[in-house]
Amino acid sequence: MALAMLAISSFFLFSAHASSDDFLPCLSRAIPEQLLFTRSSPSFASVLASSVRNPRFLTPATVRPLCIFTATNASHVQAAVVCGRRHGVRLRVRSGGHDYEGLSYRSLRAEEPFAVVDLAGLRSVRVKQRAATAWVDSGATLGELYYAIAKVSGRLAFPAGLCPTVGVGGHLSGGGFGMLLRKHGLATDHVVDATLVDAEGRILDRNGMGRDVFWAIRGGGVGGSFGIVLSWQVKLVPVPPKVAVFTVQRSVEQGAVDILAKWQEVAPALPDDLLVRAVVHGQVASFQSLYLGTCEALLPVMSSHFPVLGVNRTHCNEMTWLESVAYVYLGAHATVEDILNRTAAEDAVFTKATSDYVQQAIAREVWAEIFTGWLAKPDAGLMILEPYGGKIAALPESATPFPHRNGVLYNIQYMNFWEGAGEGASQMAWVRDVYAFMEPHVSKNPRAAYGNYRDLDLGMNVVGDGDTTSYETGRKWGEKYYKGNFKRLAMAKAEIDPEDYFRNEQSIPPLRMCLIERINKYGMEFCRLCRWDDKD
Ligand code: FDA
Repeated sequence: MALAMLAISSFFLFSAHASSDDFLPCLSRAIPEQLLFTRSSPSFASVLASSVRNPRFLTPATVRPLCIFTATNASHVQAAVVCGRRHGVRLRVRSGGHDYEGLSYRSLRAEEPFAVVDLAGLRSVRVKQRAATAWVDSGATLGELYYAIAKVSGRLAFPAGLCPTVGVGGHLSGGGFGMLLRKHGLATDHVVDATLVDAEGRILDRNGMGRDVFWAIRGGGVGGSFGIVLSWQVKLVPVPPKVAVFTVQRSVEQGAVDILAKWQEVAPALPDDLLVRAVVHGQVASFQSLYLGTCEALLPVMSSHFPVLGVNRTHCNEMTWLESVAYVYLGAHATVEDILNRTAAEDAVFTKATSDYVQQAIAREVWAEIFTGWLAKPDAGLMILEPYGGKIAALPESATPFPHRNGVLYNIQYMNFWEGAGEGASQMAWVRDVYAFMEPHVSKNPRAAYGNYRDLDLGMNVVGDGDTTSYETGRKWGEKYYKGNFKRLAMAKAEIDPEDYFRNEQSIPPLRMCLIERINKYGMEFCRLCRWDDKD
């Protein structure tokens, strides 16, 4: 009731000139005291740090929020939007805290006060075995989702990322791929409904948000551009009772260069039931695989398609799909309960990453140079190669905002790590330099990148006329992530959040496209906002 009054009395206009001093009193009228942590709260620093994966963005120089609150109810999120708009405070939303640039809890715009809505307390998973669907709250981790599904049925799974601590909210907002990507495509391809708190504080489902916005949040919403997604209904996928996994390592002396050169053609064209990814580090390439079948069935497939890798029975292990999640990401000794551990701080390391897409196999000589010239450097990082093809390539580029489907051989992620604050200059330079070196060998016009591997080096929003982010400036980074879909995303943004309340350094800018409708009875022209189908 109090919230309804708050919503009704709100003008729903973001007021940059309103006093942010009134934001906290407004919020504390709607949210229990124990969920709200202001900068002066003793627990502020620990709550802020609780899911931070990259300590690079937790330094004294990091622009901090006015407060962080741990929502446990949808009404808390609605209240934050209403209070934020009324009192000139923007929101950053955090589900799992894995954003590569920390944009779910930090800002580069010191002049814009903001608060963090932490959704880790909203994390239930409700699985319907018969319908093979689940409703999952954004604050759940992938590990919690996988575990809940497998506890209901050992024959169901969900095709999403490898790392169990990644949050569902950010992951599904940006696409999401993992070991099942060739058989089942992206996580976001399986979203059938969602609930979204929009910039007016309303809760909208698929029908309420409309076709364009529902399209947009399934892969184009990374950065919380369209609102705050509270929960997602996802379609689950079938898996056999046992799957087969292997990891085979090959050093340069053992032929890694030739094997990798071959892998580029083989891996994207293997049967859809089989994924073989490669992690290239130092002078070794590790080939990690998941097969939806037994070892007995896998071995002939490997020896007919990829004999040079030399996979044999001793490499292959059979286990349930849930066990494979723990095995592939956490190692052979991990248990399925380990994927429920949300504590990020324990293994958080300083990181810099960026990504590319490869459309034509890179020449063997180039791989040889990558090993000798780049991976052999003292502060070298690693490269993770995820093969596409299969189901991910079966949908058209415009089916979802994620456009990297047809004609893509594989995704490359360049990553580097270090441990101490104030260090990392040479590791970050390695990522930037190898990215520059790779330019001739990867996709062009645009040089594409994966939105969930966010990199602010690719460009940042500029706030322009009307206090909204500029579409033209945004194209620089936006078309790398979304190609031709960026324009449709910007139009969907104008539909749901025309005043650009939900914005950050790489949020979707609103693009208002008017259609001159007709001459009214006074001889004046009407202007109405286009939908995507009106574009031509
Ligand atoms: P976080 O909470 O930081 O949010 C990320 C972005 O989404 C922020 O801009 C945030 O505001 C926004 N957001 C979060 N919740 C939202 C909500 N409910 N509504 C609207 N906006 C919201 N990717 C992949 O495809 N496959 C993989 O295997 C991996 N593996 C992986 C491992 C590790 C260690 C890291 C750090 C990252 C990955 N990723 C990945 C990338 C990952 O998918 C990406 O960083 C996600 O955005 C993380 O989602 P979180 O909710 O954890 O992040």
